[in-house]
Amino acid sequence: MAQTVSEKVARVLEKHRRDKSMLVGILQDVQADIGYIPKDAMVEVSRGLDVPESRVYSVATFFKAFSLTPRGRHLINVCLGTACHVRGAEKVLEKIEEELKVKRGETTPDLKFTLETVNCVGACALGPMVIIGDDYHGEMTPEGILPVLKQYN
Ligand code: FES
Repeated sequence: MAQTVSEKVARVLEKHRRDKSMLVGILQDVQADIGYIPKDAMVEVSRGLDVPESRVYSVATFFKAFSLTPRGRHLINVCLGTACHVRGAEKVLEKIEEELKVKRGETTPDLKFTLETVNCVGACALGPMVIIGDDYHGEMTPEGILPVLKQYN
């Protein structure tokens, strides 16, 4: 039977021996296990470690790597670094936003994609770069991105 949020958090807390100094590591494990950090999980962590909820919340919101909302199965990162920008990355991003009907930082309601931006992934000569999961798609155009998005389900 699937574990509840409560059970998952309890297991992570045990692994870290309920050590308050491990708060960041605990939140990392919760996110790895659940896919994001739900409000319920923050409450459980707060109780389990006996630290104020406000402290757990501020740590969870401080690090960009933590997400408080569900994430899509595929993470799209559009590079908006200088080289990609001058080659038209913004137009590619706008096309993705239009196609998926989400803005940067958001996740599609079917949890298929989360759309984010990055600054330079070290492949400037191949810009504009769009990274989906572990796949690098170079020399991207607004027209070219549509068939690429269809490859993911
Ligand atoms: S600016 Fe996009 S890869 Fe360097």
